[in-house]
Amino acid sequence: MDSDAIASDLSEILLTEDQIRERIAELCREIESDYEGRELLLVGVLKGAVMVMADLARELRKADVQMDWMAVSSYGTGTQSSGVVRILKDLDTDLTDKDVLIVEDIVDSGLTLSWLRENLESRGPASVEICALLRKPDAAKVEIDARYVGFEIPNSFVVGYGLDYAERYRNLRSVAVLSPHVYA
Ligand code: PRP
Repeated sequence: MDSDAIASDLSEILLTEDQIRERIAELCREIESDYEGRELLLVGVLKGAVMVMADLARELRKADVQMDWMAVSSYGTGTQSSGVVRILKDLDTDLTDKDVLIVEDIVDSGLTLSWLRENLESRGPASVEICALLRKPDAAKVEIDARYVGFEIPNSFVVGYGLDYAERYRNLRSVAVLSPHVYA
């Protein structure tokens, strides 16, 4: 979906489809060089990471790439996550000696990724790194050492490119700030 279709729901386009595509290509060149000669397991975190996972995986010029998925749910009130995470769908892949790259749409408070990284590290992988398209530095409650970050963005309510409000707007091609009249 293009932003024109829902212009009145959006207050600002933060990142266009082209900007996202170009940045993902840059990240892929870094990842190819860092993991040269090594197999890589991409772990996408449902549902928000679907778009970035699909585009990143296809842009990678590497044959030795596997993809797997997890679904997690963070206990919390409303939009505040608590840091206590429940696995709704676990990986099918044994992580022993694997180089794992967690692929996420956004690091917000950092609580989900902090928990997830520790959980995956406990499974005996060779390495665990993080690739997040977006990061909100002003929302951080815990510091996340993400090796690959696409864009740092302000602490606003953003939707699109996988990110939702009440399960809507994930199919927007850009990343945009949701207009407060939609959720107020
Ligand atoms: C989002 C996002 C991250 C998490 C980041 O997922 O995909 O997993 O929140 O927030 P945090 O840094 O504050 O922990 P969400 O729980 O909204 O689920 P979704 O991906 O299914 O939309």
